[in-house]
Amino acid sequence: MRILGIESSCDETAAAVVQDGHEVLSSVISSQIKLHAAYGGVIPELAAREHLKNVYPVVEAALREAGMKAEELDGLAVTSHPGLIPALLVGNAYAKGMVAATGIPYVGVNHFQGHLYAAFLEHPELLEDPANYPILGTVVSGGHTALVLVEENGAAKIVGTTLDDAAGEALDKAAKILNLGYPGGPIIDRRAKLGDPKKYDFPRGLIGSAGKPVPPEHKYDFSFSGVKTALLYKVRDRELSDAELNDIVASYQAATMGVLVAKAITAARDFGAKLVCLCGGVACNSHLRAEMQSACDRRGIQLVLTPPKYCTDNAAMIGGLGYHYLKNGWNDALDMPVSARLPQDLGIFPFARNAKLTR
Ligand code: KG4
Ligand code: ZN
Repeated sequence: MRILGIESSCDETAAAVVQDGHEVLSSVISSQIKLHAAYGGVIPELAAREHLKNVYPVVEAALREAGMKAEELDGLAVTSHPGLIPALLVGNAYAKGMVAATGIPYVGVNHFQGHLYAAFLEHPELLEDPANYPILGTVVSGGHTALVLVEENGAAKIVGTTLDDAAGEALDKAAKILNLGYPGGPIIDRRAKLGDPKKYDFPRGLIGSAGKPVPPEHKYDFSFSGVKTALLYKVRDRELSDAELNDIVASYQAATMGVLVAKAITAARDFGAKLVCLCGGVACNSHLRAEMQSACDRRGIQLVLTPPKYCTDNAAMIGGLGYHYLKNGWNDALDMPVSARLPQDLGIFPFARNAKLTR
């Protein structure tokens, strides 16, 4: 089955054609980063206007690269939640227009689930091996920070999440405080390579440091507000040399990314996860990738690192995920709504080995 994926939940307009859930025939992404950089964050209405301008050429380019016409597609999958409503509306209205014109089946999919699925785009065989379950997904992006446990039957539950900022926000806001530009994640990643990550001891939220015990109900949760405030106090009213700035950036990155590694490892051990995957935009971070790899190696835990091109928002993960619904005849009607929030009940993850979809 050849599925067109469309993604417009935030500041990337993306389209991709994916065959049978994993063969990426094309993947086109138009980023709005430059537009939003001036504001230090994504402005929903501007994002929607930009999606409106780009969705047609991006979808056409994805079809052209895959050598296909819209009528030849076997289905369409579009991110319907969670995300910025004005941005989602553009991609979903466009998808519905294509569905109405071609008569192909379509499905609205969960962006968060898409990020997790991205880890397996190039390795679908890992999902077919019963020995790999339960899977612990570490989904870290600008909008999400969650540890999600996926069982072989597709049942999924979030075992840990952030109490305040997402991991990507913690990096983006730090870069704003330090006047380094937007988005902060990749800038901090590059700059941290020039500094000493052990120079400064930034607080690590909900980890039991500084004699503060972790409340048991937050054992797998995250908090990045303390480290952000500590950074603010550290640099306030000070002239920093380049060397000092590099050390601060490296130490801040080590503290924030270190918590992600520590909590993922604790959850993997406590819940008996057989495989851990690292996904979402922050999973591009070179320090996080290296630390997660060595922590998993030390404990004999199997780790899947999502290829960087599928960590940040893309439509290959959406088209790939959509296949697992559409192949089972699960599709949506043209009055399907969009939604800003991640639902409490994550439903069944359809790509798990023994997932049975029922409606
Ligand atoms: O997955 P994504 O593209 O969008 C959301 O669904 O949020 O993630 C964007 C986030 C931003 O916060 C960005 O700063 C972060 O991913 N990011 C990185 C890196 N590249 C992107 N964070 C750390 N290191 C990177 N190399
Ligand atoms: Zn995303």
